[in-house]
Amino acid sequence: MWRNLILAVGLFACVIPDSTFAQDWRKTVTIEVYLTEGTRLFIEGQEKAYQGPKRRFVSPPLPQGEYTYTIKAIIPSPMGPETVTHRLDVRPGDFESIDLRPPGQRPTTDVEYEPTPQKVVDALLRLAKVTSEDMVWDLGCGDGRIPVTAAKDYGCKARGFDIDLDRVKDSRDNARKHGLQKLVTIEQRDIFTLDLSKEPTIVTLYLLPSLNAKLLPQLRKLPPGARVISVAHRMADIKPDEQIVVETELGEFDVYLWKAETLRGK
Ligand SMILES: C[S@@+](CC[C@H](N)C(=O)[O-])C[C@H]1O[C@@H](n2cnc3c(N)ncnc32)[C@H](O)[C@@H]1O
Repeated sequence: MWRNLILAVGLFACVIPDSTFAQDWRKTVTIEVYLTEGTRLFIEGQEKAYQGPKRRFVSPPLPQGEYTYTIKAIIPSPMGPETVTHRLDVRPGDFESIDLRPPGQRPTTDVEYEPTPQKVVDALLRLAKVTSEDMVWDLGCGDGRIPVTAAKDYGCKARGFDIDLDRVKDSRDNARKHGLQKLVTIEQRDIFTLDLSKEPTIVTLYLLPSLNAKLLPQLRKLPPGARVISVAHRMADIKPDEQIVVETELGEFDVYLWKAETLRGK
């Protein structure tokens, strides 16, 4: 499948300008491309040198409209180079990711995607007593329903992190659908590489007991006053500060809350 893989990247902007309004409303389009070593990458016919596994392209600020980016590249493989072409329909302000690495080189997830029922999302945000001053981080954000609901219902900033690019795309689409791009940011990250010591005031988790325990060293560095909420799973043998049960069509969901101080053993 990776035979004759040529990847040429062309960038074409098909603008639908609205002349008067367009002059004072301009935003960039960002496209991240994940590459395997040796890939030849071309933008608007110009070859870009390989500079590591991720390249990020930011367009100039663009007036409102529909744009099409045609992306092509040359990817090496034991069978010879292969050509891949992508066409992306975007709007100014969009953030898109394309993963051109062979499947075996893409990150794998530690736990499969399963969304928290919306009723539980609403309940856990109430339990956390979110305010507009909070910064909510959802580790393994799936379709982004937790950061999107936090921003939509409480006006706070929120960030979501997921290792799976399809989930990252879903989350970004979700934030965009609700017009929350200013409050919600989504990144493709392995949650075990995140520095939790400065920004988050609320961390939400719907993972596995073993992953909660593995995250503990990071969670113990949360700022004073921060809270950690876990759907369904405990945190090692640490007694939660609060606990609720939410009834849903799918059954009962336990939701646990720990203060950062409790996790630190203070
Ligand atoms: C059970 S889902 C929860 C989704 C969302 N938080 C919710 O409550 O609806 C777990 C998510 O964690 C992501 N995930 C698994 N391992 C990860 C890792 N090491 N780093 C980042 N995300 C990860 C999966 O891709 C999946 O979307």
